[in-house]
Amino acid sequence: MAIILAIETSCDETAVAIVNNRNVYSNVVSSQIQTHQVFGGVVPEVASRQHLLLINACLDQALQGAGLGWPDIEAIAVTVAPGLAGALMVGVTAAKTLAMVHQKPFLGVHHLEGHIYASYLSQPELQPPFLCLLVSGGHTSLIHVKGCGDYRQLGTTRDDAAGEAFDKVARLLDLGYPGGPAIDRAAKNGDAAAFKLPEGKISLPQGGYHPYDSSFSGLKTAMLRLTQELKQSPEPFPVDDLAASFQDTVARSLTKKTIRCALDHGLTTITVGGGVAANSRLRYHLQAAAEENQLQVFFPPLKLCTDNAAMIACAAADHFHNGDRSPLTLGIQSRLAVEQVGQLYVTN
Ligand code: KG4
Ligand code: ZN
Repeated sequence: MAIILAIETSCDETAVAIVNNRNVYSNVVSSQIQTHQVFGGVVPEVASRQHLLLINACLDQALQGAGLGWPDIEAIAVTVAPGLAGALMVGVTAAKTLAMVHQKPFLGVHHLEGHIYASYLSQPELQPPFLCLLVSGGHTSLIHVKGCGDYRQLGTTRDDAAGEAFDKVARLLDLGYPGGPAIDRAAKNGDAAAFKLPEGKISLPQGGYHPYDSSFSGLKTAMLRLTQELKQSPEPFPVDDLAASFQDTVARSLTKKTIRCALDHGLTTITVGGGVAANSRLRYHLQAAAEENQLQVFFPPLKLCTDNAAMIACAAADHFHNGDRSPLTLGIQSRLAVEQVGQLYVTN
């Protein structure tokens, strides 16, 4: 048993959760989407200020929701990397202060390891090794999960993250922020085969293409050209067809790379995490391709795919059991590879 209270403030969600290993006692997420909507995207300074305003209320709500007090909490965990520096600082300062005041062990957690652990929360029987496709506003990664703290990134994006591409294309199509859900909705009324778009391929110096890396810049440029061209035409602007074609291209491309990566590495289980895991077309293509290749694929519920502190607490619980602790001198890091999570701990 390890009852962990975790804080997550790496981007635009102020989140606090209490988890007993893989059992969620409370999971409070205060989203700042409405605050940032007027700016068309997340403004880092505004995000930090919002975290400051919301963190104490989220902490109270998480304790009340779990029906617990500070003496029941065994350790305090927080996302320390990667993320927006000012935003991370708010959560880390709160967590360190609480750890000192209540004399609890302190654990810093890597945000991507949290996203990986979201799958353990929804699928408690899940066992490594498996392949995690992590697709969010900030990341597009294929991660070989070998065990707690033992990761190898096999694929990444060369430019935008998948969610970022959805957000930028939604802006082009005047669909608002966040773009992913808006494109998903518009695409339901559109024809995915209406426009042939380029799937980002990364050429290798020795010839051929990188099998697992993605690129969305060519696709974004193609969408920009098409949009400019079609907006000048007297015909009604085919926003639904454009959304459906774009979404289908991203979903097919991610599916191909994920399946190829799983097969090449002999991994029979795939998990998906991050906000883009909610995408209906990605779910459709990945599920179908996994079945065709006799692979298993797990999609956690949306509440656990998008940023939350339950996933951070769950990752911390495994580290806690392994004897990992972080020093109170641990600082935030806006960039840190998932392979380097070991840097965050000293082992007892
Ligand atoms: O994981 P997340 O909540 O935050 C980050 O860590 O970035 O992911 C947010 C991203 C946004 O870019 C949003 O547009 C995208 O996930 N997203 C979607 C969908 N729902 C959210 N993208 C495609 N289809 C969706 N249904
Ligand atoms: Zn995230």
